[in-house]
Amino acid sequence: PHVVCEACIGCKRTDCVDVCPVDCFREGPNFLVIDPDECIDCAVCIPECPEAAIFAEEDVPEDQQEFIALNAELAREWPSITRRKPYPDDADQYHGVKGKLKFLKR
Ligand code: F3S
Repeated sequence: PHVVCEACIGCKRTDCVDVCPVDCFREGPNFLVIDPDECIDCAVCIPECPEAAIFAEEDVPEDQQEFIALNAELAREWPSITRRKPYPDDADQYHGVKGKLKFLKR
C-alpha cells in the first residue's frame, strides 16, 4: 500500500482524497492516513499532495518507517474522508517543518 508520512501532519491539505478511486483515506484531527487494506497502489495521490507526504511503502524514507505501522493503526480508529476540504488555517505554519510527529493529534 501507500503510506502518508510526516509532511502531512498539521498541513492536512486533503487534495489527495478527491483522486482516490477506492476512498481509502481516513481522517484524524491534523493528519490523514491510508487504510493499507483498501489501498490498491494506484499512486494517483502522490503528485496531488502539495506537501509530498505520500509514498509507496517501499519508498518510505528510512527515518519515517514508523509511519507504515502508524497508518495501519490509525486507519482502524479514524473515519473515512472522501471529499477534500479547505486547508486548515494554520497549515502554512507546518509546511516543511521537520520532526512533526510530536504534533500528531489522535
Ligand atoms: Fe496530507 Fe497531502 Fe493529503 S498534506 S491530507 S497527504 S494532500
